[in-house]
Amino acid sequence: MNTVLTDPYRDLLARWEAQQTAYVAHREARFDAMLDVLELRGHTAPTVLDLACGPGSITDRVLTRFPGASVVAVDFDPVLLCLAARVFGDRATVLDVDLARPGWSRTLAGHTFDAVLSSTALHWLAPAQLLGAYTELAQLLEPEAVLLNADHLRYDDRDPMLRSLSAEHDRRWQRTHFAAGAQSWDQWWADAEQLPDLAERMADRRDRFADRPPQPDAPLHFHLSALRTAGFAEAATVWQYLDDYVVLARR
Ligand SMILES: C[S@@+](CC[C@H](N)C(=O)[O-])C[C@H]1O[C@@H](n2cnc3c(N)ncnc32)[C@H](O)[C@@H]1O
Repeated sequence: MNTVLTDPYRDLLARWEAQQTAYVAHREARFDAMLDVLELRGHTAPTVLDLACGPGSITDRVLTRFPGASVVAVDFDPVLLCLAARVFGDRATVLDVDLARPGWSRTLAGHTFDAVLSSTALHWLAPAQLLGAYTELAQLLEPEAVLLNADHLRYDDRDPMLRSLSAEHDRRWQRTHFAAGAQSWDQWWADAEQLPDLAERMADRRDRFADRPPQPDAPLHFHLSALRTAGFAEAATVWQYLDDYVVLARR
């Protein structure tokens, strides 16, 4: 009889994907748009920075689409960093980086990247920190490298109807997925706590994120202006659904 051994870390990553898909509409389409850009630019084995990687959703997709790629994945959450390190082993370099701390990019000295990819993460930075992060990325990247950021970029008070439509779409999307049995954020974290080496990092996680409240919204026009100010040559959207975007910036 064949015994199927399940890797508990891989399994937890799969459940992360299902959980995030329930919160983030058209999440896979955003990833596809980012990887398509790399492919259209002729990359077959790109060097990629997965910025605020979580457990490595982008890393996983990059390594699947481009098996020869090399990936550095950075985040500040010790639990998610540990999970990413367990899942990818020597297939990716996983580093502890706080994007809110000026000078964070020094950790990446010596690396060159064709592309920086990020998803559902940079809204955790305050607008001033975001400009700082974009500036460090512009200094880190060689000319022609690209940054691709997939995130909700909320409409502000000037677009109340679009803001309301986007919120309603989010509600309907989430209702449908949770009704179909998707795991919630809290349920996923309860499962993560069942793995001893993740459980032992939970207290550190709580300490690190204790004083990091949600930040004011930075709408699309802020991101585009900040990217140009930071030193990127081109900055525009490559994908959009209501207030959900993939923004591309070319160094
Ligand atoms: C919702 S998760 C997204 C993870 C993954 N990119 C995805 O799409 O599933 C947001 C990530 O941003 C990370 N993050 C938040 N603030 C950060 C900071 N200051 N520095 C680095 N990572 C940060 C969190 O730890 C978390 O892993």
